[in-house]
Amino acid sequence: MAGMRRLELAEALQLGPGWRHACHALLYAPDPGLLFGRVPLRYAVLMQMRFDGRLGFPGGFVDLRDHSLEDGLNRELDEELGEAAAAFRVERADYRSSHAGSRPRVVVHFYTKCLTLEQLTAVERGAPRARDHGLEVLGLVRVPLYTLRDGVGGLPAFLENTFIGNAREQLLEALQNLGLLEAGSFARLKISAPPP
Ligand code: APR
Ligand code: MG
Repeated sequence: MAGMRRLELAEALQLGPGWRHACHALLYAPDPGLLFGRVPLRYAVLMQMRFDGRLGFPGGFVDLRDHSLEDGLNRELDEELGEAAAAFRVERADYRSSHAGSRPRVVVHFYTKCLTLEQLTAVERGAPRARDHGLEVLGLVRVPLYTLRDGVGGLPAFLENTFIGNAREQLLEALQNLGLLEAGSFARLKISAPPP
């Protein structure tokens, strides 16, 4: 969805009935692990391979049975991630941003949620039993936050994948604003840092 416009939540909620709303969440957890015994993992950050071959965040369309954006988001998380998603709830306090695209008329709302590493690994273990596994969701992936010695392996190579909508921008903005990368990484990666 090229050319999405950032808008405030209040404005998004006033869009007319011709608009569909979708909510997605970045789930993350502090991770003290070391790759090869020396490269700090820092955080486990979840994305998913979607049915369309693109990377995105778990979540989806909010519909009439949902009483709020967050009800819709948590229902989608149950469907896409399975039983371990019932151990937490993504709330309005976890809301980050909204973007609207006009063709089709979809407004997407983005949330971030910090879990414990135990909660996050429970999500990964349970995901193959989720309703949508093998259908709309082809698998969960962790985002590598490090850059290997060749300067490409890790996050730079990951960012070369194809992402749905503005998921790549949502990811970069969250990594920056939540302080998930090592200091100075954006400059070294030659990725322009998204606005604060
Ligand atoms: N940024 C912008 N748009 C996004 C993002 C994102 N990060 N992630 C998803 N979208 C768009 C998708 O392109 C889709 O139009 O938001 C909409 C809903 O998100 P999905 O997660 O794809 O919706 P979901 O309810 O999980 O189910 C997918 O939608 O495309 C249909 O028929 C298809 O049944 C399928 C369903
Ligand atoms: Mg979805």
